[in-house]
Amino acid sequence: MPHHQLIVVGGGLAGLRAAVEAQAAGIDVAILSQVHPGRSHSGAAQGGINAALANHPEGHDDTPEKHAFDTVKGSDYLADQDAAIQMTSDAPGVIFEMDHWGCPFSRFDDGRIAQRPFGGAGYPRTCYGADKTGHYLLHCLVERAYERRVTMYIEVFVTDLIVDDGRCRGVVAYDMIRGGFEAFTADAVIMATGGAGRIYSNTTNAIISTGGGAALAYRAGVPVKDMEFIQFHPTGLLTTNILMTEGARGEGGYLVNDLGERFMSKYAPAAMELAPRDITSRSITTEVLEGRGIGGKDYVYLDLRHLGAAQIMEKLPGIRDLAIHFEGVDPIDEPIPITPCQHYTMGGIDTDVDGRTVMPGFYAAGECACVSVHGANRLGGNSLLETIVFGRRSGAAVVADLVGRGGRGDASAAGARAVADLQARVAALAARGVGGQDPYAIRADMTVTMKDHYGVFREERQMREGLERLLALKQRCATIGLRSAGGVFNLDLMRTLELEGMVDLALAVAAGAVARTESRGSHSRTDHPLRDDETWLKHTMAHYTSAGPRLDYKPVTLGTFEPQERRY
Ligand code: FUM
Repeated sequence: MPHHQLIVVGGGLAGLRAAVEAQAAGIDVAILSQVHPGRSHSGAAQGGINAALANHPEGHDDTPEKHAFDTVKGSDYLADQDAAIQMTSDAPGVIFEMDHWGCPFSRFDDGRIAQRPFGGAGYPRTCYGADKTGHYLLHCLVERAYERRVTMYIEVFVTDLIVDDGRCRGVVAYDMIRGGFEAFTADAVIMATGGAGRIYSNTTNAIISTGGGAALAYRAGVPVKDMEFIQFHPTGLLTTNILMTEGARGEGGYLVNDLGERFMSKYAPAAMELAPRDITSRSITTEVLEGRGIGGKDYVYLDLRHLGAAQIMEKLPGIRDLAIHFEGVDPIDEPIPITPCQHYTMGGIDTDVDGRTVMPGFYAAGECACVSVHGANRLGGNSLLETIVFGRRSGAAVVADLVGRGGRGDASAAGARAVADLQARVAALAARGVGGQDPYAIRADMTVTMKDHYGVFREERQMREGLERLLALKQRCATIGLRSAGGVFNLDLMRTLELEGMVDLALAVAAGAVARTESRGSHSRTDHPLRDDETWLKHTMAHYTSAGPRLDYKPVTLGTFEPQERRY
């Protein structure tokens, strides 16, 4: 049974940065990832990473404090202000470190790292590498992890935590290459598995963004926080929901309705297309609902033609390729049909600013965690930042918690029990076979329910109906049948094992959304259109029960920025 001092689950930016930090301090670290780390969803991030470097000619007086203010205002005041200040203070150092490690950021003519405007930001502070920033950062950290000789178990699918006497002592996983189940014991585990976008049918997220890490923590007794806050990115490609970066609007792109109007002037007259994502997605949806979608249909245009071929080729080559190949549209010549799509999970595993959770030995970082720095609405460019800042901090926290304290003892008995439990669960699934509930039908029903009942606009009756559907799906999960019992690369096994956890997270979104009788950030209720700080300036905590989530609440950390009405 493999043992490492630290196991990091997930090989994206947060996991890699955590691993590099801990390994550099002499900790024996292993990353477990269901895909090669270079294929993690962090690589899909396009437009950039925020830091108050003050390099842009229009941003010379930018500061981390101003970045924190924009983040908190963007969050509709639900972000914990100490956490936002921590993130924005760490940001410049993180960028310089990635630059020194070889990340090929785009440059201004004077050689400094280039920055572009992004939504909801008072200053142009988004550092970028063309429109492939996540890809560049990811590959830089993959190289760093190999150079540091971090152990990597690749194509290993983690299914459960090993919890012994209340402490996390490792994970159990399906080995996709060799087949079979294995325990990996550890003195500490960092979960860094990304978001849960795939609980929606209309998402920009990769097939692996199923919320797996958050779900297995939640089911093991670690609460998830603020799950009702789901970000819809304003500009997903109409047909495939592939991301068209906010950087396209940062470079000057327009949003245009069927009348040829730049309609954002009605909704955010100062910020226009660079309003925060919640406001921009609501504006597009309103245009569509009021009949001004293109040809009366459910989309509008992202128009880049006025930028010209040279700027598009230099700054936005990736989205040009994607638009050509997936929508049949060359943005140099034609406007791009776009629609708001699920993009980001603001909520997640409840952590402090060092990734610690309520469970000793268990930490989380990146999109699967909720620190909370994004509150009710994340600003574009703050997610790449979050992954690296809090990945690094969680790695450092493990070092602080482990170094000089000796090992935590042998966890192999707990590991063996956890493997036996998983084997029994899989045997029961296989015994039902095609006679059991069809996991693909349940998944399809769940993802469409989330799209239709917990979208850009929400309302009581529609959400309650959604909740009933999800509770019924949860019941059906109890009798799922495994279609294929094959040993290696059994994707059917993985999709089946992860399904109930996805339904559990969907239920946490739904229950939190029904309960929160206000509108705040991405949670926009037509029946409660106003923000209600008196009652709802608090975090939703969802605790797992087999009958559905139990909710309670905890205060938001305020103290620096007084909550105000958001205007852009
Ligand atoms: O639009 C984008 O490039 C996405 C960035 C982000 O989600 O932060």
